Amino acid sequence: MCGIVGYIGKRDAYPIILNGLKRLEYRGYDSAGIALYDGKNIQLCKTKGKVADLELKVTNEMSTIGNLGIGHTRWATHGEPNDVNSHPHYSNSGDLVIIHNGIIENYAALKKELINRGYTFYSDTDTEVLVNLIEDIKKNENVKLGKAVQVALNQVVGAYAIALFDKNKPDEIVVAKLGSPLAIGIGDNEFFVASDASPFIEFTNNAIYLEDEEMAIIRLGRDIEIRKVKDDSIVAPYIQELQLNLEQIEKGGYEHFMLKEIYEQPSVIKDTYRGRLLADKGIIRLGGLEDYIEKFINADRIIIVACGTSWHAGLVAEYIFEDWARIPVEVEYASEFRYRNPIITENDVVIAISQSGETADTLAAIKLAKEKGAFVYGICNVVGSTISRATHSGTYTHAGPEIGVASTKAFTTQITVLTLIALKLAKIKGTISQSNYMLHLRELDLIPSKVEAALKKNDEIEKIAKIFKDATNFLYLGRGYNFPVALEGALKLKEISYIHAEGYPAAEMKHGPIALIDEHMPIVVIAVNSNHYEKVVSNIQEIKSRKGKIIAVVTEGDTIVREMADYIMEVPNTPETLSPLVTTIPLQLLSYHIALMLDRNVDQPRNLAKAVTVE
Ligand code: M6R
Repeated sequence: MCGIVGYIGKRDAYPIILNGLKRLEYRGYDSAGIALYDGKNIQLCKTKGKVADLELKVTNEMSTIGNLGIGHTRWATHGEPNDVNSHPHYSNSGDLVIIHNGIIENYAALKKELINRGYTFYSDTDTEVLVNLIEDIKKNENVKLGKAVQVALNQVVGAYAIALFDKNKPDEIVVAKLGSPLAIGIGDNEFFVASDASPFIEFTNNAIYLEDEEMAIIRLGRDIEIRKVKDDSIVAPYIQELQLNLEQIEKGGYEHFMLKEIYEQPSVIKDTYRGRLLADKGIIRLGGLEDYIEKFINADRIIIVACGTSWHAGLVAEYIFEDWARIPVEVEYASEFRYRNPIITENDVVIAISQSGETADTLAAIKLAKEKGAFVYGICNVVGSTISRATHSGTYTHAGPEIGVASTKAFTTQITVLTLIALKLAKIKGTISQSNYMLHLRELDLIPSKVEAALKKNDEIEKIAKIFKDATNFLYLGRGYNFPVALEGALKLKEISYIHAEGYPAAEMKHGPIALIDEHMPIVVIAVNSNHYEKVVSNIQEIKSRKGKIIAVVTEGDTIVREMADYIMEVPNTPETLSPLVTTIPLQLLSYHIALMLDRNVDQPRNLAKAVTVE
């Protein structure tokens, strides 16, 4: 929910931290702060607002000298986003400075104890409690910083990725992780700390990803010391070589990350099935699945847990798994699943879908499913993420970094993976005919070019956006495989344009939402070739009779809906089962253009963050 970044070494820390914060801003952007240390003085600056506001404030208010620094970009949990609640936070003595991503759940009790011991608190944050707890332990138990951190973290309930330094130790940063991610970049006697590797990728591609309940003491001139928080035992560092490159995390000439990510879909869908789908040979090979096929085949049920857009991908999967593989599927909001005492048995397979691999609710649902003995399979985008490690096995989507807060390429690549799994299981179970199987393999291989063709309609979609940008409500309707796409279209519009939008199964319209329809209401209807085409046409008639404005997603060459709709957005002809991969494209573009015309912050919509690491 927040982004943290740190540096210690021979370079100026300021530009590294500042640039790192800009790259991590997708994680939270309601306030930002930085602390620099030159071995004598700590300079600290923080502000409500974005990293750009921080940059301005730093220019006016502080020196940027220092080879050690930490920085933070925040999505507020405790306390409103204001200057005081922003990170970093000092301890009472002014010796310790900390940044934190996560939540200390028992902070109120700890705070009370510390107040009784004479500590004063200036902010409403749980983080200020943690730094003073560390200080208290360090003083009272007369231990070094690392030991004090370890003892303090054993008293803490919650989640954290922290980085802190001590004024008395100019060559040391201590970091720790539980729940929230933390990567350490290793250079030539210089070290980088960040929520993901993007802040340091141009300096080094050697990194250590801390595991949960691990802490690291990073000292110049020394090897990194990693310890278990629970028992202080030493852990051998595992240094990974990163595949990430700078190009992947830059806008590459696009005005926004969201637009870049929409346009990346033809190539990342291909990346997702490359080497896994051998269409001509009729082969699907998924490394993470091969050893667990029996679990899926023999499962009583597949339960899919996810949130937001990933949940919508799960809904698409429900249709394809049941249709092809004939395995019963339930799709659950992870947040509801974890709290409703669900029935889960050892015969269930749970699929957790998450772009970030950090979503707290999805992670909690996984833990619950594991406790109950289910086999848990992950579909994540971020390699090495918490969810990808918490699952028994899984498949990565290869979408590359998704930085726009609105998920786009994550959705289509998740559906690609789920389609591969469903087809493979169906083939093994014999629930799909050989011809239908082969047809879908070939059709899947054609999806990148069809997405490309759908993207070419951008200018027409922009014109439609101009006509409807001032609408205050939208309805999205779809049937069958395209019902989840209607939900996804509505989510995309509301989260980046702030226009109220609702998705419905088209047939449900007459059970209530039809009352909303008048001549001011735009209704986006997904009316592509499918088994439900005639039914959708009838739904369009019903809308027309009530004077609703119809924007229809149609198959190229369609004549019937073209006649009835006010505006159309064409996509190439695609089997219904795979159509969500193309019908979602015009809806992404429509939302993007409307948001842009309304002057919204497309990549960083208000109140949101890319990875929701709190409940
Ligand atoms: O990283 P995850 O896929 O677990 O995230 C789930 C949702 O938070 C996410 O899809 C969210 O709804 C997006 N903002 C949608 O565009």
